[in-house]
Amino acid sequence: MPGHRTGRIGACQHTDRTPDLTTLTMSLADCHSFHDFRRLALRRLPGPIFNYIDGAADDEVTYRRNTASFEDCDLVPNVLRGVEAVDLSVTVMGQKLAVPFYCSPTALQRLFNHEGERAVAAVASKVGTLFGVSSLGTVSMEELRKKYPTPQVYQFYFHKDRGLNRAMLQRAKDAGVDVMMLTVDSITGGNRERDLRTGFSIPFRLTLGGMLQFAIKPAWGLNYITHEKFTLPQLEQHVDMSGGAMSIGRYFTEMLDPSMNWNDVAEMVRLWDGQFCLKGVMSVEDAKRAAEIGCTGIVLSNHGGRQLDGSRAPFDQLAEIVDAVGDRLDVMMDGGVQRGTHVLKALALGAKAVGLGRFYLFPLAAAGRAGVERALGLMRAEIERGMKLMGCRSISDLSRNQLRFR
Ligand code: LAC
Repeated sequence: MPGHRTGRIGACQHTDRTPDLTTLTMSLADCHSFHDFRRLALRRLPGPIFNYIDGAADDEVTYRRNTASFEDCDLVPNVLRGVEAVDLSVTVMGQKLAVPFYCSPTALQRLFNHEGERAVAAVASKVGTLFGVSSLGTVSMEELRKKYPTPQVYQFYFHKDRGLNRAMLQRAKDAGVDVMMLTVDSITGGNRERDLRTGFSIPFRLTLGGMLQFAIKPAWGLNYITHEKFTLPQLEQHVDMSGGAMSIGRYFTEMLDPSMNWNDVAEMVRLWDGQFCLKGVMSVEDAKRAAEIGCTGIVLSNHGGRQLDGSRAPFDQLAEIVDAVGDRLDVMMDGGVQRGTHVLKALALGAKAVGLGRFYLFPLAAAGRAGVERALGLMRAEIERGMKLMGCRSISDLSRNQLRFR
């Protein structure tokens, strides 16, 4: 297995520097990779919002490692396999997907572009994959369920208010959500220093520096104020967000229940009585317990490096978990995925599907629905090309025989 060294992330540098001259003339047609979309998003978004998406906890070591972990492993292609047609479909959590990646639930999407979750859901439907709706989503799960005919995951945070938890579970059931996904790595807020520096919070209470960064991005401001008012429809009946600024870290720390334990989750699994997965499981012991209480899936995740800095990368941990529980539940992973070959490596190790987060958020911020469509189209094309070059006609052809760790 790969070691723990921290690697480079190609062109993705973790800075909040202003765009260079080539970026100033850049458009969607110039975006050919994650790095291009990130650069375009950096140009369009006010600094505090860009850094909310781009940032992670403490020294961002885990954030960097998530992508670098894929570079410690090489693909070994097979040739002459007759690969004129390749099938990218997978079945995961009871859902048949046309591609082996999905849009992970992420918060506050209408803040990045007014189309927000509607853009992501529309593109996911077109591509034939599932998308997640966050508890901190900015479009209601009911509206998304009605409009977009593709499997929907609801991302659940376990709040201190048990009444809220029960109501939320019932609401997701009534809405017809296909998969319940409980986030278990966020019972307290990660130390996101970029957000502390800018004052990023809901609603905004910016530092002077943060305010200036908004002032120099008037196009974003125009887009924001000329569209539907910002709301959090999953929570608004339960949480009063109007009383003052609340940072994401404070939301986690004040609203979410750190006493949540396996009995609480077992009860939720029983009540839900359907596809139920835990997002943020990393240890073999926890993966086994998830299987024991009836979870049908787990997502190996460190929340994009935004919670516990110094924690292991999902890709580094994947083989161990698949070996332990892969025959009892679906193992997925997210974190640091920027390339089709990253997805292929995870699938070859035994992941059933791979989640994308920043990979579609930067395109959303850069160009709305058209950006997300281009990004997911590029990801699909990279996977298809990679499969052909690997000599694989279907996802099940990929195996550990085609991976070598350095
Ligand atoms: C975050 C939460 C809201 O990482 O998922 O900011």
